[in-house]
Amino acid sequence: ITRKREEKKKPGKKGRETCCGSEHEERQTTTDHLSANACLMPICQLHGAAVTTVEGIGNTKTRLHPVQERIAKAHGSQCGFCTPGMVMSMYTLLRNKPKPSMEDITEALGGNLCRCTGYQEIIDGYRTFCEVCHHGTFTTRIQADTSFLCYSKTSEADQILKAFSTGKKKVFMLITVLPQSTLKCSSYLRYIMAESPEQTTQKFHGERMTWISPITLDELVQLKTQYPQAPVVMGNTNVGEYKGFKGVLHPIIISPTRVRELFGVEQRPEGVCIGAGCSLSTVQSVLERCVCSLPAEHTQTYAALLGQLRHVGGQQIRNVATLGGNVASAYPNSDLNPILAAGRCSLLLQTKEGKRRVPLDKDFFVGFRKTTLRPDELVLSVFIPISRKGEVVRAFRHAPRKTNALPTVTTGMRVWFHDGSDVVREMSVYYGGVGACTFCAERTSQQVTGRPWNEATLNEAYRVLVDEVTLGVSAPGGQVVFRRSLTLSLFFRFYLHVLQYLKDMQNSAMEPLPCVIGPGYQEFQVILTLHHPITLCAQVRSAQDPVGQPVPHSSALTHATGEAVYCDDIPHMNREVFLSLVTSTKAHAKIIHIDVSRALDMPGVVDVITAKDIPGQKFQSFTGINEEVLVEEEVRVTCVGQIICAVVADTKQHGKLAAAALKVTYEDLPDRIFTTEEAVEQCSFYAPQRTLQRGDIHMAFQEAEHIYEGEIRVGGQEHFYMETQSMLVIPAREQKEVKVYLSTQHPTCAQMSVAETLGIPANRVSCHVKRVGGAFGGKITKASILACITAVAAWKTERPVRCVLERGEDMLITGGRHPVLGKYKVGFMNDGKIIAADVHYFVNAGNTPDESVLVRRRMLVQLDNAYNIPNLRGQSVACKTNLPSSTAFRGFGVPQSMVVIENMIHDVAMTLGRPAEEVRDRMNLYKGLSRTHYKMEFDPENLHCCWVECKKRSELGRRRPAVAEFNRRNRWKKRGIAMVPIKYGVGFGHSFLQQAAALVHIYKDGSVLVSHGGIEMGQGLHTKVQQVVSRELNIPLSLIHISETCTSAVPNTNPTAASFGTDANGMAVWDACQTLYKRLEPVRKKDPSGTWKSWIATAFQERISLSATGFYRFYVELFTLTKPYTYFTYAVCCSEVELDCLTGEYRTVRADIVVDIGKSINPAIDIGQIKGAFMQGLGLYTMEELKFSPSGSLHTRGPGQYKIPAVCDVPLQFNVYLLPGSQNPFAIYSSKGIGEPIVFLGSSVFFAMKEAITAARTDVGLSGPFPLRTPATPEHACLACNTHFNQMIPKMEAGTSPPWAMELP
Ligand SMILES: Cc1cc2nc3c(=O)[nH]c(=O)nc-3n(C[C@H](O)[C@H](O)[C@H](O)COP(=O)(O)OP(=O)(O)OC[C@H]3O[C@@H](n4cnc5c(N)ncnc54)[C@H](O)[C@@H]3O)c2cc1C
Ligand code: FES
Repeated sequence: ITRKREEKKKPGKKGRETCCGSEHEERQTTTDHLSANACLMPICQLHGAAVTTVEGIGNTKTRLHPVQERIAKAHGSQCGFCTPGMVMSMYTLLRNKPKPSMEDITEALGGNLCRCTGYQEIIDGYRTFCEVCHHGTFTTRIQADTSFLCYSKTSEADQILKAFSTGKKKVFMLITVLPQSTLKCSSYLRYIMAESPEQTTQKFHGERMTWISPITLDELVQLKTQYPQAPVVMGNTNVGEYKGFKGVLHPIIISPTRVRELFGVEQRPEGVCIGAGCSLSTVQSVLERCVCSLPAEHTQTYAALLGQLRHVGGQQIRNVATLGGNVASAYPNSDLNPILAAGRCSLLLQTKEGKRRVPLDKDFFVGFRKTTLRPDELVLSVFIPISRKGEVVRAFRHAPRKTNALPTVTTGMRVWFHDGSDVVREMSVYYGGVGACTFCAERTSQQVTGRPWNEATLNEAYRVLVDEVTLGVSAPGGQVVFRRSLTLSLFFRFYLHVLQYLKDMQNSAMEPLPCVIGPGYQEFQVILTLHHPITLCAQVRSAQDPVGQPVPHSSALTHATGEAVYCDDIPHMNREVFLSLVTSTKAHAKIIHIDVSRALDMPGVVDVITAKDIPGQKFQSFTGINEEVLVEEEVRVTCVGQIICAVVADTKQHGKLAAAALKVTYEDLPDRIFTTEEAVEQCSFYAPQRTLQRGDIHMAFQEAEHIYEGEIRVGGQEHFYMETQSMLVIPAREQKEVKVYLSTQHPTCAQMSVAETLGIPANRVSCHVKRVGGAFGGKITKASILACITAVAAWKTERPVRCVLERGEDMLITGGRHPVLGKYKVGFMNDGKIIAADVHYFVNAGNTPDESVLVRRRMLVQLDNAYNIPNLRGQSVACKTNLPSSTAFRGFGVPQSMVVIENMIHDVAMTLGRPAEEVRDRMNLYKGLSRTHYKMEFDPENLHCCWVECKKRSELGRRRPAVAEFNRRNRWKKRGIAMVPIKYGVGFGHSFLQQAAALVHIYKDGSVLVSHGGIEMGQGLHTKVQQVVSRELNIPLSLIHISETCTSAVPNTNPTAASFGTDANGMAVWDACQTLYKRLEPVRKKDPSGTWKSWIATAFQERISLSATGFYRFYVELFTLTKPYTYFTYAVCCSEVELDCLTGEYRTVRADIVVDIGKSINPAIDIGQIKGAFMQGLGLYTMEELKFSPSGSLHTRGPGQYKIPAVCDVPLQFNVYLLPGSQNPFAIYSSKGIGEPIVFLGSSVFFAMKEAITAARTDVGLSGPFPLRTPATPEHACLACNTHFNQMIPKMEAGTSPPWAMELP
């Protein structure tokens, strides 16, 4: 049984959690296949259902399923952690609908998140299952210079030429894929389900709860009478959330999923009666049938409900969540309750006394999650009446993301007119999201009743509505002004819809945003010459050479089949225990006492680890300043979430309970600092502060024709890697050895930290990393600290200890991207030329220095971006605050630094009334041989080429007037277009970090095992390294294997970061291969017609060493203070958005990116990196908002509150072009680093939004620069539009009570 439970749990990790449940309906001959979230699916409820996980549909040993194969071969998998979830969502869709439409596919994938890919490759891979399939296209270009083509006469060369000739090619042109299988229910499923479970009451007893599943209504009623406080668990999406994430425990659970009376559907002339147990997906199907079969005037409520249902959760949620559950749980943001209430629905209730019918109206909802339902009462069914002649019913919602997000505000509205007139006979308006429960705007409805439907009535309604829907400054959820403004703008939308009904007119406020994602278009060059890795001199290239080809990720297939092993997949060890952390609940306090006694008495607890247990060094200092590993008594805690101690228990559940029971007594300390402004006021900084300057800014400001001062607040960002921090530490006892298996970007950092903490030499600690499920900078220092604590637990208990953070813990503890306040003063001329800029960065570093001083430094170095500003001064300070310590994040401060500069340029353009790209390009871009502000010489020619190419490819010249015309024609929808460049210095900026080592073994059978210091975390590093080995040893990829990264094989590794992984490790591996190739030369010469295998056999016989190390160090002579980078990666992106000014929602309608990436080693992987980074940047600048309470506690601790981009956010047209003909003498095979630069280009969406907002502001008579923070969420975008709805909301009185969330940075 245990084994079975483990298997069921396996896909339940966030990101890979979708499984397919199949239920065989006894009365029908069909089988329902439902995708579901394993983390919310109670195992007891699966009795009688067949569960298919990704392992069950195909594997690499026997046969792959087409769904697995296509995502892998379409390059839809990077770190692979989300891939099984994607596969299962698509698999379930195909089981139910073998020929889906694109809408079906995007809907099916709407509930899955991926942090790496940017989704487009996944969509393009699955697009091939569509009946009408528009494949994504790769276009390849032969490099113009083919003079070195040495094998042009051979047949292999012909083949290559044929394969890569210029022209459009389907995604799968280069690879064959399995045909779509019949996708029928496999016989074992039918067999399992034919054994229909016994129809008797089931009871499952656990340690702390009993699960009872009755089969008759009588029994259910009896149970509810006996246990009135027991929840009735149907879909478990509400109860499960509270249990799983908030620790609410129910000793008894009643699960009536087999009680037929709850599932009936009856269509009557007066309406439809739907069983409370019907899932929301079933409700959708029932209503769709009603809408098809009834006259339109009777289906107003049904159509409105359908519109809402489409957006409730993802499909996995809708498949299990029930109608009755939604009503009974009375969530204040429920999408369904406002429209059910407005639509005159009623409930049929049952107790042991009998049945009663109650209207679902304003009197039903009485408080936060409270209704008039008695504790022993059951909802049997919901009756939804048909709409009447003259009745108009609509529902609208606004959510922080288009799919799978609870609404910010949602509404159901109904108006009934007197026969043949526009005079209101009855009106009903309900809102969700504006209070503790579903809210009835009764006074507004009364105000409108009896009046004609016109603007005068509308204005009266606004006046009452503003007064009726109020929210206090501290209202939970914050966004007070925005939410109140939404109540008005959604009412206005209803007004227009009704007007359309009455007068048959159209208005842009009623049109939905565009949403159909087109196929992606990518263009790259294939290089037919081969160059020496550094000197660029040409060599003969073999026909099997994979360098430069779009080879799929080497683990893509095992990602897709679930065979890929992540840290937490390592099988449980004998005597293994689990580590749970105890963290500070105070932002600034002294710890008076840590009482571990209650925790130690809890079941399953083995020990509690405190600072006293650390045998070695009690602190770590990553950049020279000490950070405590655990906090002792009498010592200060400096943020909520700081780790105090840890519980070791036999299971995760026991550990969690004991950690909650452990008591820490604090003494509050004064002077908490949260914002950068507070830090400046109190001079709370991490030294040193830095200034970087060139020219004479004071003089230049005197000469400038205009001077403008502005600022921008740049929010932080959560890494949201799909695999949370995970590790397993195994003490070997013998000779004080410790093995650490962990998910890190920097195994040597973990090794050294663990050794120091345990007080043992580093040669006793080995760190092993097979693969990492996403890292983005968040798994360097933070993973090391956690490894130290886990190692102390393993050391003390002498048992293997596993620590895997839950999403909420991970978000709370590990910090993220630095929030920054950027202030600037800019001096410029009438033509847009900037002659002086003075920029200050205030970086919110949090409670420990971590790498903040380095981040701050890099922000200054890269502040010029692509602009030649002759007099430039940058100053930056790292502010010490009482927030969780910020850390490295893809781009290392550059995305924050550059967005400040771009905002400054945008302000200059707005002040002058010129298009921003004109100010960027003609006046300020670097041109000709140039020098940066830190005196580095470089040639910006390729930056220019990217600019010109992007302008051409994006058709900016044609589209800018089209955008203006669109804006002229539409009042409530506005478009904006923006083009943004980047010049990104690749590398660490410190010479000692520019080194790498490798170890290559050739075995007697000719197979090759490669070890290097880099980590595979989705960026395809191992794949590229294999391509290098294949070229250098002239052997096929199939002979080359990379097992793991291990500090015992390759010591003293540097972090895999700074877009430098391939540059460094590729060269180290190249070096080792060169050694081996040269050693084999005599053997090859002796037997030129031999094969690789025969040469290796001979070499062994002749006692030639078949193992070699390789080393790479970047030319120290090239590395100086004025040349911290060896080369730049250049790119330009043009994005266009459409903005809904009433709600602030937007859609990126098109994005074109041109990138100079040198000669790509693997264009498919590089394009994947480009798209993934762009989407992460889009999230950073427009979506992902971290919210802290006024006492410094993080509100946004999971996917429910923190929204990263999903499938619904992919640009509708997304094109990537790799600049042809580029060379780079400083990196392997003339390639360039690409992991980080493109994140910044997500800001093109932000600036396009600014343009759209500018158009909206023009309509209300506003002009000139305006403040807009990042992320420009719908709230900030909508309020910046400053429509009259925003203006109608009275200003909040400051100082009465603190707002729900602080304004950071
Ligand atoms: C990721 C996610 C996204 C979501 N997004 C949205 C969204 O966008 N919009 C939205 O409106 N909702 C959303 N929800 C909420 C979801 O719709 C509700 O949780 C769901 O409808 C509740 O149904 P359930 O069957 O899962 O309830 P359960 O969790 O099984 O039960 C919930 C409560 O209802 C009671 N109950 C259930 N059935 C009955 C009955 N027949 N009689 C009496 N009491 C009963 C139970 O006792 C329990 O207290 C989301 C939920 C999740 C987890
Ligand atoms: S590939 Fe999707 S999260 Fe990494």
